[in-house]
Amino acid sequence: MRLGLIGYGNIAGTLLGVLAEQGFRAGRLDVLARPGAVDRARDSLADGAARITEQFEVHEDVQGLIAAAPDMVVEVATHGAVKDSVTRCLAAGIDCTVVSVGALADAQVEQALHDAAVTGGALMRVVPGAVGGIDMLAAARLSGLDEVVYTSRKPPRAWEGTPAEQALDLKGLTEAQVFYDGNARQAATDYPKNANVAATIALAGAGFEATRVRMIADPDAPGNIHEFTVRSGALDFTVRLEGKPSPDNPKTSLSTVYSVARDILNAAGPVAI
Ligand SMILES: NC(=O)c1ccc[n+]([C@@H]2O[C@H](COP(=O)([O-])OP(=O)(O)OC[C@H]3O[C@@H](n4cnc5c(N)ncnc54)[C@H](O)[C@@H]3O)[C@@H](O)[C@H]2O)c1
Repeated sequence: MRLGLIGYGNIAGTLLGVLAEQGFRAGRLDVLARPGAVDRARDSLADGAARITEQFEVHEDVQGLIAAAPDMVVEVATHGAVKDSVTRCLAAGIDCTVVSVGALADAQVEQALHDAAVTGGALMRVVPGAVGGIDMLAAARLSGLDEVVYTSRKPPRAWEGTPAEQALDLKGLTEAQVFYDGNARQAATDYPKNANVAATIALAGAGFEATRVRMIADPDAPGNIHEFTVRSGALDFTVRLEGKPSPDNPKTSLSTVYSVARDILNAAGPVAI
C-alpha cells in the first residue's frame, strides 16, 4: 500500500510505531506538512517511517501529496487540514480517513467533503477514534433512533482553556458538575478541542441537532470517560469507554491511535474487521 498522512504530531508519531509492531509494510509513505515545516515533519517522523517503508517523502503542498498517488490518505492534523487538504485529495479521487472529525460540525465543510468525494469518486471514512460502538449506532440508525445522549466526563483540569472555566470554578470543584447540556452542533462549536467524539456520534447517529451532549467536570474521574446511550427501533444500549494515557506522551489519545491503525490495517487487507 502507498500510504499518505496529513499531519506529523502526537497521533502520527505513535501510529507509525503501532503499524510497525503489527508488521505493516508500505510501498511508500508520503506526508503533507504545513508550509515551512517540511524539515520538522521529516525529523519527527523519519525513525517511525523507516520502520514501515523504504520510500519516505514529506511534501509542502497538497499537490505534491496528490502527485505521489497514495492509495489512501489519513488525516491526523487539524480541522483546517480537513477543510483544505482532505477536500482536495477526495476531489482528486483519493480515499481519505478523517480523524479531526469535529471539522464536520461546520455544515459547509461537511457538504464540501461530500461533494468532493462524489466528484472524485472517492470514499471518505470517519474513524471512530476515541469512541467505540459506532458500528452499532450507525446500524441502529437504520432502524430508527429515538434518543442518543453522549456524556463526556473529565477531570476539572482537562477542561481548562475551554468555556467551562467561565461556567465553573474548576480548581475549587469538590463534586461532579454538569456545565453543558445541549445539542452536538453547539457542543462542537463551543468546545472545538473536545468536538471529535460528539461529532462522530452525531454523524453516525441522530445528526448534530438531535444528538444530546452533556459535559461534566468530575474531580473523581480517573481520566477521560466517554459514555453514550441509545434508544432505537432495533435495540437499546449504552457504551462506556475509559481511555488510558500513553506512557510515552500523555497528550496522545492512545485509543485513537489504535483506531486509526485498525482502519489502515483493514484497508490493507486481506481481511477487514
Ligand atoms: N476522532 C477522535 O476521537 C480524536 C481523538 C484525539 C484527537 N483527534 C484529533 O486528531 C488530530 C491530531 O491530533 P494530535 O494529538 O496528533 O495533534 P498534534 O497537535 O500533536 O498534531 C497535529 C499535527 O498536524 C500538523 N498540521 C496542522 N495543520 C496542518 C495542515 N494544514 N497540514 C498538514 N499538517 C498540519 C501540526 O503541525 C502537527 O504536527 C487533532 O485534530 C485532534 O483534534 C481526534
